[in-house]
Amino acid sequence: MTSGDPALARAVAPLAPPGVLVAVQRVAGTQSESLMASEAVMLADAAPRVRQRSAAARHAARRLLRRLGVPPCEILKDPAGRPVWPTGIVGSLAHDDDYAIAVVAPSSAGLGGLGVDIEPAEPLPAEIVHLVLTSAEHRHCGGDLLLARLLFVIKEAVYKAVNPADNVFLDFHDVVVDLATGQARTRTGRTVAFAATIQPRLVAIARWTPIAGR
Ligand SMILES: CC(C)(COP(=O)(O)OP(=O)(O)OC[C@H]1O[C@@H](n2cnc3c(N)ncnc32)[C@H](O)[C@@H]1OP(=O)(O)O)[C@@H](O)C(=O)NCCC(=O)NCCS
Repeated sequence: MTSGDPALARAVAPLAPPGVLVAVQRVAGTQSESLMASEAVMLADAAPRVRQRSAAARHAARRLLRRLGVPPCEILKDPAGRPVWPTGIVGSLAHDDDYAIAVVAPSSAGLGGLGVDIEPAEPLPAEIVHLVLTSAEHRHCGGDLLLARLLFVIKEAVYKAVNPADNVFLDFHDVVVDLATGQARTRTGRTVAFAATIQPRLVAIARWTPIAGR
């Protein structure tokens, strides 16, 4: 489900595993009025552009929650910046300058956590490749800086999937990505499955299950 870009809709739909809903929303097409009252208060000090990105993500999330029968509700943030979902829902938000994305699932889907990230399909700056990739990942990318940025996106999605449960800061090298198996392993011992696309934007959806993920 997408507002604004059919090609992006086609690309992200297959990334969502069974039971997970995904929606993309164009930032430019979103009014800050999409924020509910307490969200607007929460974001009062944010720059207008940041507020609009967060509004777009919440607009997308509420469309999905409606499909799950959840009435319109605020999606606030905890003190660490993590989104607070209604009881019985797991989810994740992300936004870049142009698009926001939301993923949600009911707890009946059996997921311990969900994470999502989105970035423009542009190469990772060469000077930060060593910060993001382990040496094995670096070898795998073989100088392909767009692929390197995809790994960046996957690692961020993995972080968002595990951080609400683990509350542990992870560096990029604390998440090791295996593109061949579609699984990442965290320093804290979680195995996180992911699906990702490169075009028309870099998008990754990560999830773990309480049994398989530990
Ligand atoms: C969480 C984090 C990855 C978000 O990345 P970002 O580039 O700032 O922003 P994104 O657009 O990708 O995502 C923003 C959304 O992430 C969500 N988020 C923020 N902190 C989160 C956390 N700890 N866990 C899960 N989700 C989080 C929020 O919903 C936020 O949107 P909102 O502000 O509108 O509510 C980043 O802020 C962070 O804490 N990084 C430190 C850890 C890290 O990146 N390690 C390297 C990868 S392992």
